[in-house]
Amino acid sequence: MIERLHLDLRRTVDESYDILIGHGLFEHIPVDLKISPLGNKYAIITDSEIRDLYGWKLLENLEGEGIKACLIDFPAGEESKNLDMVGYLVRRLLENRIDRKSAIIALGGGVVGDLGGFTASVFMRGIPYVQVPTTLMAQVDSSIGGKTAVDTSEGKNIIGAFYQPKKVYIDPSLLKTLPEREFISGLAEVVKYGVICDQSLFKYLEENRDKIKNREKDTLLHIVKASCRIKKEVVEEDPKEENKRAILNYGHTPAHALERISGYKCLHGDAVSVGMMVSGGISVRKGFWNEDEWNRQNRLLESLGLPLKMDFKVSVEDLIEALHYDKKAEGGAIMFVLPRRIGEMALVNGKYKIPVSESELRTFLRSILL
Ligand code: GLY
Repeated sequence: MIERLHLDLRRTVDESYDILIGHGLFEHIPVDLKISPLGNKYAIITDSEIRDLYGWKLLENLEGEGIKACLIDFPAGEESKNLDMVGYLVRRLLENRIDRKSAIIALGGGVVGDLGGFTASVFMRGIPYVQVPTTLMAQVDSSIGGKTAVDTSEGKNIIGAFYQPKKVYIDPSLLKTLPEREFISGLAEVVKYGVICDQSLFKYLEENRDKIKNREKDTLLHIVKASCRIKKEVVEEDPKEENKRAILNYGHTPAHALERISGYKCLHGDAVSVGMMVSGGISVRKGFWNEDEWNRQNRLLESLGLPLKMDFKVSVEDLIEALHYDKKAEGGAIMFVLPRRIGEMALVNGKYKIPVSESELRTFLRSILL
C-alpha cells in the first residue's frame, strides 16, 4: 500500500530591486541603508585592493551613521573565486558574529560580486546582500541580474546560484581609480550592449570615443545608464536564462574558452572583445550578419583600445577543445548567440542560442583566426 502526500509548494516571489546610479552615490550608501535597513549588521566583503581604496572608507561611513559593520577581505584576483574561499569567508562571517539577520555588502569588481553574492546565497541558507560594483565591467554587467558563482578546476562559474541582490549602488566616480587596461576591458561589455540591443548606443560609442577614453563624467554616466537599462530589461524578461538572457553572452562562448586557454590570466573584457570578433565572424559565415557591420563592430572595438586577437597563440584545435568545457556546449554542438544586425540578435526556431557543429566551427575558425 503506497501513501501519497502531496507537498504543495507553488510560490510567487517578488525579487524586484532598485539599481541606483549616480556620481557621488558611494557617500550616500550608509544613509540609504539607515532609511531602508537590510539587517542588524553588515559585512563588507571586498578584495585586498578595494579594501584600501574604498573598503575602510565605507566601513567608517557606516559606523559614522551608527550602523554596525565589519570588513572581510580576500586576495584580489580570479584565483580567489573558488569554494575554499567561500569556506574562508563563512568562517570570517561567523567570527564577526554575522547571523541570519545580517546582510552582506559586496564591494568590488566581478570576482567580489560573484563570490560575495554566492556566499550570501549559502550563508545560513541565504542572507540579503547588496552590490557596490567598482569596475566598469561590474557596473554595467555582473552586479545586476543575480548570477553568482565560483570557478572549479574544470571551468569558470561551474558552481553557482541565481541569487538577486536587494539593491545595486553604482557610482561611476569610483571608476576614476580603475587602471587603464581594466577600464578599457570593461568597455567590451558596453559595445556588447550596442550590438545586441541598441543601435543608438553603438553610434554613441562610435561618436564619443575620446570622451569615453578620457572618462568624461557625463559620458561615463550615459554609457553606464544605457547599459544598465538594457541589462535590467533583458533580466526582467528572462531572469533564469531560458532564452533571451543568453544574448548577454554575446562573444562570451569564445571568450570563456580563451580565458581557459590563458589559465584565467587575461582580462575578461579583452577575451570578450576577441570573442565578439569571433562570434560576429561566425554569424557572417552562417549568413546571419553582413560583413560590413561585422567590420564596423571590429573597428569600434579597436578604436576603443580593445583587442581583436589575444596576446598569446591560439590554435583552432585548442579553441575547439576549450569550447567543449563551457556551460554553453549542449549535446555536442557549441551554442552561440549571433547578431543579425547592429542592435538585434538572430533567432532560429524562436531560440537565441544557435548550435554550431564542430566541423562547421573548424571551417569558420580557420578563416576567422587566420
Ligand atoms: N553576464 C551575463 C548575464 O548576466 O546573464
